[in-house]
Amino acid sequence: MTDFAGLRAVVTGGASGIGLAAASLLASRGAQVVVFDLKPDVPEPLSGIAADVSDDNSVRDAVAAAALQLGGIDIVVNNAGIGAQGNVTANDDDEWHRVLDVNVVGIARVTRAALPHLRKSDAAAIVNTCSIAATAGLPNRALYSASKGAVLALTMAMAADHVREGIRVNCVNPGTADTPWVGRLLDVAADPAAERAALEARQPMGRLVSADEVAQAIAYLASPLSGSTTGTAVAVDGGMQNLRIPAAR
Ligand SMILES: NC(=O)c1ccc[n+]([C@@H]2O[C@H](COP(=O)([O-])OP(=O)(O)OC[C@H]3O[C@@H](n4cnc5c(N)ncnc54)[C@H](O)[C@@H]3O)[C@@H](O)[C@H]2O)c1
Repeated sequence: MTDFAGLRAVVTGGASGIGLAAASLLASRGAQVVVFDLKPDVPEPLSGIAADVSDDNSVRDAVAAAALQLGGIDIVVNNAGIGAQGNVTANDDDEWHRVLDVNVVGIARVTRAALPHLRKSDAAAIVNTCSIAATAGLPNRALYSASKGAVLALTMAMAADHVREGIRVNCVNPGTADTPWVGRLLDVAADPAAERAALEARQPMGRLVSADEVAQAIAYLASPLSGSTTGTAVAVDGGMQNLRIPAAR
């Protein structure tokens, strides 16, 4: 499939996990892809630019460099994100600001720097990586859930603001996905095997979501073939949000 032939994409947090899978899939379908990451070591044909989405100057420089390198920008995948654990008492103000700064304000920074380029595109699309934490109450994820709830609302607001400019904005809501992020989470668990089994059991399919499966949804939303799709959230969560099934006996 070459639906992305001639299109130029930026993927934030694209050096690992879901971002790397999405960047690789877009490239395999014909896009030229630049990855923004803190450590942008990416395999060819991807190219990497060092950028910190929590630093406005860094983002502006990276967007300018990407637009120069690619000759424009048609697609932005706002995927960079960090986690936080615990209930509402678990994190101090600095940590609240840090996580919201990366997960929410980061999307605003990258998008506002990229908008002048997107406005020149005939196939402009933004896809934000949100989470099931935006739509379901998960224990011990208060700060992270607040950040992803904001990503969901921001996605809808941006979709409304830019629909008349021909810029589509959507998000994906992954369940727990098998990425280095979850690997790090399991590494610090008291019993990693039991913790992994619990995460798998929480999803009706009984397994974690793969990064490639999330990438497929990102590509669907970013593709010019999905030209009528804007202001939507696509769940890729093994049924976790919407299904109510009896526990396995
Ligand atoms: N893994 C999951 O279970 C899961 C579930 C739902 C949503 N998500 C979301 O998916 C996205 C990607 O997660 P992942 O699991 O692939 O994680 P990951 O840790 O494997 O990859 C995240 C990437 O983002 C980069 N990054 C972090 N902070 C950055 C910053 N300030 N500037 C630029 N890059 C930065 C990291 O360097 C890393 O390469 C995140 O937004 C996360 O919230 C993940």
